[in-house]
Amino acid sequence: MPNITIADFARSFGAAPEEFSARCLAAIEESDFSYRRFSQAERDAVILEVLRKIETDQQVIAAPERREVWQRGWAENLELFKKSGFDPRALVPKFLRENQPIRYDGDYILPANARFEYDYMTVFRIWLFQKYFVGLPGVYEFGCGTGLNLVLMAGLHPGGDYHGLDFVPAAVELVNSIGQHGDWRIQGHLFDMLHPDSAFKIEPGSGVLTFGALEQLASQHEAFLQYLLKQQPAVVVHVEPTIELYDEAKLFDYLAAAFHRKRGYTQGLLPRLQELEGQGRVKLLHVKRLGFGSLFMEGYTAIVWQPV
Ligand SMILES: C[S@@+](CC[C@H](N)C(=O)[O-])C[C@H]1O[C@@H](n2cnc3c(N)ncnc32)[C@H](O)[C@@H]1O
Repeated sequence: MPNITIADFARSFGAAPEEFSARCLAAIEESDFSYRRFSQAERDAVILEVLRKIETDQQVIAAPERREVWQRGWAENLELFKKSGFDPRALVPKFLRENQPIRYDGDYILPANARFEYDYMTVFRIWLFQKYFVGLPGVYEFGCGTGLNLVLMAGLHPGGDYHGLDFVPAAVELVNSIGQHGDWRIQGHLFDMLHPDSAFKIEPGSGVLTFGALEQLASQHEAFLQYLLKQQPAVVVHVEPTIELYDEAKLFDYLAAAFHRKRGYTQGLLPRLQELEGQGRVKLLHVKRLGFGSLFMEGYTAIVWQPV
C-alpha cells in the first residue's frame, strides 16, 4: 500500500522537510497515512457519485437559512462537549466525514484510516500554526466554528491570547466554554464577516486565521478584507478552497470546480489579494494548493499575507 511520507507532506504544504518540528513529525508518525488507488471501474463509480452530487445538491452558500444550520450544528457539538466532560475530541465538526474516498495528488484514493482527512489536516495545521503564529501575542480566528483550531494553537503556544469569532451564538458559547474549562486563554465573540464591526479591535502584533470560513461568504469578502487592512494584523492566514488554482482542462479538477460553483463558495479571494499586492498594499508570503481534499472539492489552499 502506498503511504504518505514526510517528503510528500512537505511537497503538499510547500515546506522543506527540515522545517517539521518534533510535534509535527510525531503527528505523522502516530497516524496511518496508507491508502490504495481505485480500479478503473471503482474510479468510474466515484466520478458518477460526484456528478450526481453536483446535479442534485441543494445547499446554497450564504443563504439566510444557513445561519440556522450552523447554529444547530454547533449547539450539538456544545452539548457533546459538555456531556463528554469537556473532551476536545467533541469539537470535530460533523462535516468532516469518515471512511470516504478523498482527493489526493491528482486522483481519488481510499485511505486505510477512517479519520484520514482530519489527521492529514492536523499535520498541516501544526506545521502552519507553528510557522506563522507561534510567538505572536495572540490569534483571532474569524468563522471559528467549534474552536478546534484555537485549541490546537493554544496547545502549541499556551502563552498567547486566542479569540474565536463567529456569527452564530452557539459557536461563541462553545469557544467561551473551552476557555472556561481548559488551561488556555481562549474567548469567543460574535462577529459577522459580511458586516465587519470596525469597533472590534485586533491587538497589535496579532495574527488572523480563516479556515473554511471566507468560503462561506459567497464571494462577498471585500468588506472583511478592508476591515483587516485597517486593523493591520502582523500576519493573515487563510485556508480556503480556491477555484482559481484548479486546472479545469483536467476532469479531476473540473469536477471540484463544478461543485464549488454549484454551491456558490467564494471566488476571487486570491485574485483580489494579488491585485492588492500589485498596488503595494499587501505582501503575499505563501500560496499553496495542498492537492488534498474531501471527495467533492479541495478546501485546503494556504494563502498567507501581510498588510504593507
Ligand atoms: C466550514 S465552518 C469552519 C469552522 C472552523 N473554522 C473550522 O475550521 O472547523 C464555517 C464557519 O463560518 C461561520 N460563518 C459563516 N458565515 C459567517 C459570517 N458571515 N460571519 C462570521 N462567521 C461566519 C459559520 O458559522 C461556521 O462556523
